[in-house]
Amino acid sequence: MYHPSEDSFLLAQSIEDYHGTLALEIGVGSGEVLKVLCQNFRNVIGTDLDQTSLDYCRKTLPSNVALVCCDAACSLRGRFDLIASNPPYLPIHNGEELDCTIHGGKTGIETTLRFLESAKVLLAENGRMLIVASSLSDYQSLLCRINQLGFRSHVLRKQKLFFETLVILEITL
Ligand SMILES: C[S@@+](CC[C@H](N)C(=O)[O-])C[C@H]1O[C@@H](n2cnc3c(N)ncnc32)[C@H](O)[C@@H]1O
Repeated sequence: MYHPSEDSFLLAQSIEDYHGTLALEIGVGSGEVLKVLCQNFRNVIGTDLDQTSLDYCRKTLPSNVALVCCDAACSLRGRFDLIASNPPYLPIHNGEELDCTIHGGKTGIETTLRFLESAKVLLAENGRMLIVASSLSDYQSLLCRINQLGFRSHVLRKQKLFFETLVILEITL
């Protein structure tokens, strides 16, 4: 299970300003972000591939959250006011053992793009997505692909750490 870190806290803080009826988090981990969504939205859905994370969230979070074990948002229907995710974004290097909680593919952006593609049909008309991105992945290509997918994006927050820069992208259709 992913241990909450600066990226989790930055996304959780960003979500504090958003309120609404229905929210989704893709890749819930230990629920640091989900906790804020549960306070600010009437109903919340969270997904993860990792059953241990989902079991932990089920025990620790309020009853307005439903947890689903699936890839990205593939098994979901509906229209969400807010879709949030802190996807695994580290590039995986040759010979390294794959860790799905942190590795986001060859350039680090592949899983993020998969999350965005699966979430596109789930976004309400005026809905917003908040996604964590990092300078450790191929950030410029990510921005380009987000455009190609038909989204608009801008940097909502930025945090410089000594080893990486984290950004929260706000994405709309
Ligand atoms: C960087 S962690 C973030 C966890 C938590 N949201 C946080 O911010 O602390 C990424 C999470 O995405 C999950 N994940 C990875 N690939 C996934 C996929 N294809 N579908 C759903 N969840 C996935 C991992 O199991 C992990 O819990």
